[in-house]
Amino acid sequence: MKAQDFMNKLNTQSLNLILREYPIAADFLANFRLENLSKEIPVSEALKDVNPEILEEFGLDGYDLLQNLSLFLENLTETETSLDRVTSITILGGVNKLKEPENISITIYPGEIISIVGPTGAGKSRLLNDIECLAQGDTPTGRDILINGIHIEEEQRFQLDGKLVAELSQNMNFVMDLTVHQFLEMHAKSRLTPNANEIIEKCFLCANQLAGEQFTKDTKVTQLSGGQSRALMISDTAYMSNSPIVLIDEIENAGIDRRKAITLLAKNEKIVFVSTHDPLLALSSDKRIVIKNGGIHKIIQTSEEEKKNLKSIEKIDNILLKLRNNLRSGETITEDLLKL
Ligand SMILES: Nc1ncnc2c1ncn2[C@@H]1O[C@H](COP(=O)(O)OP(=O)(O)OP(=O)(O)O)[C@@H](O)[C@H]1O
Ligand SMILES: [Mg+2]
Repeated sequence: MKAQDFMNKLNTQSLNLILREYPIAADFLANFRLENLSKEIPVSEALKDVNPEILEEFGLDGYDLLQNLSLFLENLTETETSLDRVTSITILGGVNKLKEPENISITIYPGEIISIVGPTGAGKSRLLNDIECLAQGDTPTGRDILINGIHIEEEQRFQLDGKLVAELSQNMNFVMDLTVHQFLEMHAKSRLTPNANEIIEKCFLCANQLAGEQFTKDTKVTQLSGGQSRALMISDTAYMSNSPIVLIDEIENAGIDRRKAITLLAKNEKIVFVSTHDPLLALSSDKRIVIKNGGIHKIIQTSEEEKKNLKSIEKIDNILLKLRNNLRSGETITEDLLKL
């Protein structure tokens, strides 16, 4: 990443975020005795509040310091371009469908769940696609996706194709007619999974927990229902895939325990993006990105109050689940099913 990119970051991101991504920036600031900068506002703003006398001592003003910090971070990251381990993913805003700038930068860390909400046709899947192809300003949105704070070079992008991001789309097209066990075994082998048998067993049990209807290891993957195959893929991704980023487009209709599914993925230190119209999923995430007219309109941190409301939403959801199960098993819907 170039000094200019860091400059943009320092102009838009809070010191808190910068320190989280580059803890060594704290040492840099301490050298100038700037340990007590405001942490919640963009770094450039925080520097404006510094008493100029402090900086004059070093023959600098706030702008020089900002430039020096950008250069410092550039040097630091030049030697650290390894993408073996994803420590963060950053979405740099582009434009919405009206070509208005998004003016946004959001950085996400392993273990975080981000939901993407917005009306039909707003651009949720588009954002997931941008992440999947590691957009570098070359998609209709003009967004940039940075990994570990770094722009991906064309060559790296090609090498990384399919390795960084696992996508769980609605339709699982199984090409070969394997049994569930053979399928898991093949994945374990191709990914050189250690303790393969143990992991296969775990994967299978977990997939069955997620799915509404049970299946056996001898079931052919082509015979699995939509929900079952999705459950299998989620569990396979959680336990066996090396991809640190998981994208899920519309999980709700799959008839699986969707909250369990996303928390399972996040627990395995993956970054999970899930596009959804479902309040239960949206509030189970750490943050939600609101899309409007093709652009990132807002980023909302799930509040304590919302987390508290999750309990009530779960109750409502369980009622719907019961109704669905009753319908499925050919029973009638009675009023007592609707009681909270
Ligand atoms: N910023 C943008 N600039 C140009 N085109 C865009 C932009 N964002 C989205 N689009 C286009 O708008 C169309 C609808 O977007 P998308 O399919 O992502 O909607 P969605 O929110 O996923 O809808 P649904 O809820 O129905 O799945 C797509 O053709 C997409 O490429
Ligand atoms: Mg969509």
